[in-house]
Amino acid sequence: MKKVLISTCLVALTVMTTQQVVAHGGATGVVKERMDLMEEMKDSVKAVSSIFKGETAYNADIIRKAADTIKTHSGDAMTELFPEGSLSGHSEAKPLIWDEWQRFKTLSDRQGKLADGLYRSADNKEVMPENAQQMMGSGGMMGSSDNMMGSGGMMGSSKPMMDDPDVLAQMPSSRVFQMVTDNCSSCHERYRIED
Ligand code: HEC
Repeated sequence: MKKVLISTCLVALTVMTTQQVVAHGGATGVVKERMDLMEEMKDSVKAVSSIFKGETAYNADIIRKAADTIKTHSGDAMTELFPEGSLSGHSEAKPLIWDEWQRFKTLSDRQGKLADGLYRSADNKEVMPENAQQMMGSGGMMGSSDNMMGSGGMMGSSKPMMDDPDVLAQMPSSRVFQMVTDNCSSCHERYRIED
């Protein structure tokens, strides 16, 4: 009996979801779709967070899997779920998105590059390879005349976007992960209504 009930519910749910996407097609469907996309990324972020919080053992495959999910949810995959003016009762998106479309899009594109970098840094459990350290002028002490990034530290927000996957691939995964989540926050701070 229980089983029957559960499967009936499942069918009902599936039908409802499909109908919502198909039938409404506009705001409701797309708002729901982007919320789902965001939720999936949240799960990926959680999986990696628990590694760096020390709750789970270091596992490069988990990091790669999360990075892959985040990457495929970046760029156009994300922005196409924000058609102009798509705001419904439940949406937390700010209209500012469409006034600053290019800036919004840049954050979504940047996420793709950072996720790519995270994927490629997954094996860098702690240390930075020495050549990368020099390149970064890590800690300000190693900075030299051939320091590509200039002085002032790589994290300075006014620096050119640190989103070259080749460079990120040399960094500790924990640091790249931090950059990924900072990028989530940057977008949310500006374009998502706080609840
Ligand atoms: C380019 C901007 C942008 C980026 C980058 C971004 N988000 Fe979002 N996110 C939004 C906006 C806008 C909303 C609100 C959408 C709505 O309610 O219509 C949102 C909503 C969410 C939600 C709430 C979804 C719900 O069910 O209501 C979660 C969770 C979330 N984002 C997680 C993330 C995570 C994790 C990342 C980074 C890996 C991320 N987001 C990156 C713009 C962004």
